Amino acid sequence: MQIYDPETAVRPFVKWVGGKRRSLPVLMSYMPEHIDTYVEPFVGGGAMLFALKFKKAVISDLNPELICAYKAIRDDLEGLKKLLQTFKYDKEQFLEVRAWDRDNNFLENRTETERGARLIYLLKTCFNGLYRVSGKGYFNTPFGKLDNPNICDVPTLERAHAFLNEKQVEILNLDYNEVLRRGYITKDAVVYLDPPYAPLNRTSYFTSYAIGDFTDCDQTMLRDYCDVLNANGIRFLESNSTAPIIFDLYRKYAITTLNARRSINSKGTGRGAIKELVIRNYAD
Ligand SMILES: C[S@@+](CC[C@H](N)C(=O)[O-])C[C@H]1O[C@@H](n2cnc3c(N)ncnc32)[C@H](O)[C@@H]1O
Repeated sequence: MQIYDPETAVRPFVKWVGGKRRSLPVLMSYMPEHIDTYVEPFVGGGAMLFALKFKKAVISDLNPELICAYKAIRDDLEGLKKLLQTFKYDKEQFLEVRAWDRDNNFLENRTETERGARLIYLLKTCFNGLYRVSGKGYFNTPFGKLDNPNICDVPTLERAHAFLNEKQVEILNLDYNEVLRRGYITKDAVVYLDPPYAPLNRTSYFTSYAIGDFTDCDQTMLRDYCDVLNANGIRFLESNSTAPIIFDLYRKYAITTLNARRSINSKGTGRGAIKELVIRNYAD
């Protein structure tokens, strides 16, 4: 069991849909006390990563802009801060920076640091801090009405930079399947899986973290992935919703229902207490 310590936990550098900050104290109590290699294939804002104790880690997410932000923080903090300091809380600049991804040569024309700075800037200044992309993959959350947002939060960025470097965190932009297939998950690893949740009903279905939805079929494939981890003696802990399909898929594992608090969703509604599941293949 690990104990959440607000003094040592690094604050996530952005708010992220499905972020685990609020449920951390309870979630961490299900984590093994000693972790050599920590692997988080759906890292998002990294609330768990930045709070947990481990020797080394591998993190990954399918969202390439988010991964640019992690890499900029780890490898080019000064460049990132410099850029963020040029970004103002101003609708015209917001729309201009948001539109970078409409450029056909976006990926070639912008450095990882520029893309990371853009992501942080947009999330700090957009409506509800919500990452949302259109069918073409264009960031489309509108400008937010905010009270002086902290666009360049130097202390948080510096702490995240120190953390990622001291722990030699390996940062990947891969589908979760590839993290396993390419051999990043060793026998000693503890894998934390926080996928897009199975919807409780079809209207609460919101999974636009990247292009493509996380369907029931994806949930089944993720369970199969857990079966492979389990068959190889690798410990995993997964968070998911209380949708009936999840109880059904994971019935051979230990399932615990938690009372969690959700901070943001697509409509800004649905705040407050909700239940979620913790699924594990190891004992306390
Ligand atoms: C629930 S969020 C994770 C939230 C995170 N635990 C936090 O505290 O912010 C799910 C993440 O999975 C990523 N994702 C979605 N499909 C994926 C896939 N097939 N492989 C890897 N990552 C994926 C999304 O980009 C998103 O960041």
